[in-house]
Amino acid sequence: MIRKLFSYFTPVNIYKKNSSVSKTLEVTWNNGQLVLDSENTNYSYGSLQRILRKGLKYIGFERIRNFESILVLGVAGGSVIKTLVDEIKFSGKITGVEIDPTIISIAKDYFQLEAIPNLELVIDDAFEYVLKTKLTYDLIIIDIFQDTKMPNFLFEDFFINRINSLLNLNGFILFNTMVINQQQVERNLNYKSKFNANYSLRMYPKVERHNELFTIKKLA
Ligand SMILES: C[S@@+](CC[C@H](N)C(=O)[O-])C[C@H]1O[C@@H](n2cnc3c(N)ncnc32)[C@H](O)[C@@H]1O
Repeated sequence: MIRKLFSYFTPVNIYKKNSSVSKTLEVTWNNGQLVLDSENTNYSYGSLQRILRKGLKYIGFERIRNFESILVLGVAGGSVIKTLVDEIKFSGKITGVEIDPTIISIAKDYFQLEAIPNLELVIDDAFEYVLKTKLTYDLIIIDIFQDTKMPNFLFEDFFINRINSLLNLNGFILFNTMVINQQQVERNLNYKSKFNANYSLRMYPKVERHNELFTIKKLA
């Protein structure tokens, strides 16, 4: 409690661990809120949670509440899952896929992810998972970073086509990207060009400065 109060003056780190995927993982009290950070960026419950909440707002809380199944690729501390359950009151099935077992144990110990009854956690590479799964989803949230780096597979046809085939008609993809240089601006424009008239795609640039969000609807 003292540490939480103190964190209004300066961030108070309470846990730190090395991770093969994200270099270091840190749990910190920041302005009275417990956040999860990698070496160079916020992973969960700070700006990241605000960014994805905006994306969900663009899709519409009401619409999301009526969905049946949601896939979250990249779980970390699970802040978007908390937004879905606590704020949107989504009660359908959530599947969360996360490659790093270290981060999942932090999510359970510090962010009570196990207390969410409609959440199934899968420790796997998102790329492998989407190849294997036979389920389809109304909303697919793609939020995959290795510290500040986004793996290339996210932007490749193979993964894009696979994600599209797992998406139900009238369903949405919410894709969070980071854009800090011209090459990444072009990477995102190229990504946009991969969706044909069967999809309605919107880009939201400069969400909290360096992030660009995509919402992509699969038209019926
Ligand atoms: C920004 S964090 C996710 C934050 C989370 N969506 C939230 O709402 O709090 C990015 C996560 O992607 C995970 N990740 C990186 N590469 C991955 C992969 N190939 N498959 C699944 N997860 C991956 C990282 O371990 C990290 O936990």
